[in-house]
Amino acid sequence: MRILITGKNGQLGRSLQDVFAGTDHQIFAYASGELDITDQDQVGKVLTRDLPDIIVNAAAYTAVDKAEDEHEKAFQVNANGAENLAIYAQLANIPLIHISTDYVFDGNGVLPYKTDDATHPQGVYGKSKLAGERAVTETAIKHIVFRTSWVFSEYGHNFVKTMLRLGEERNQLGVVADQYGCPTYAGDLALAIKSVCHQYEQQAALSWGVYHFCGDLATSWHGFARSIFMLAEQEGVLGNRPALNAIESSTFPTSAERPAFSVLDTHSLSELNLVPSNWLVGLKKCVVCFNK
Ligand SMILES: NC(=O)c1ccc[n+]([C@@H]2O[C@H](COP(=O)([O-])OP(=O)(O)OC[C@H]3O[C@@H](n4cnc5c(N)ncnc54)[C@H](OP(=O)(O)O)[C@@H]3O)[C@@H](O)[C@H]2O)c1
Repeated sequence: MRILITGKNGQLGRSLQDVFAGTDHQIFAYASGELDITDQDQVGKVLTRDLPDIIVNAAAYTAVDKAEDEHEKAFQVNANGAENLAIYAQLANIPLIHISTDYVFDGNGVLPYKTDDATHPQGVYGKSKLAGERAVTETAIKHIVFRTSWVFSEYGHNFVKTMLRLGEERNQLGVVADQYGCPTYAGDLALAIKSVCHQYEQQAALSWGVYHFCGDLATSWHGFARSIFMLAEQEGVLGNRPALNAIESSTFPTSAERPAFSVLDTHSLSELNLVPSNWLVGLKKCVVCFNK
């Protein structure tokens, strides 16, 4: 199959290239400089030239705090960019796999969010991502939207790398303990996307729609940090294990408000023959790569 991937240098973009390496699929992967999804003409030209059988949109504006000051840019990429791809997918009658976020919810819930629970994003990033998923679901009939959360990987910037770096520099770290979510290993999300592509190739009757793909265990940022340092110590990656202090989010103000509870219910994944990310296994893979 011919598979077109946008945002090839991001965490998910790089993980996708890893999982498709060595397969028979022809991969057309683009960085923002090669295919800017906000440029409708360029999207049309590149896709008409490559003629993909399926599109995977791993591109996004992901600077959650900066988005509060860059409303237009966030919406350009996350809403208009997603719509440009959806328009092409619909015209070409091919599927679009698109990624959204737990930040479409306000985080005031106490039970894991189901895919059809009411959305109510708090910040610009979440609002722009919700506009993007709406553009995709309303424009392209053949769509799979994966809402994911707390993504980490061997690549780019993420919480795991930040913790390990700070752990080398400091003896004490304060980490927010009153926000709960599910860490997700980008490599597992990439494998889930690969499976959807494979099922589509096998002409399986895919149920188009919105799904939640995230880690199998909910935790707080503090709990996540504890797991990171426990594994780092086990794997001999860090000389020094810092003391972790549980802090309240109110003592760590950020421009964008984060949902206090953004645990996603992943039950409907079984409709796509998928299981949630075993993030502790993914975490071990990332931790051993640190400093390499
Ligand atoms: N990271 C998380 O914790 C998290 C949580 C929930 C959901 N998600 C979602 O998961 C998906 C993947 O996230 P990620 O962590 O892999 O993101 P990432 O590492 O920030 O990568 C995003 C990529 O998108 C590219 N991009 C930005 N603007 C573009 C444009 N106009 N045209 C084409 N490419 C563009 C960027 O390229 P340049 O750098 O070259 O601009 C970057 O390589 C996104 O949809 C994100 O919203 C992420």
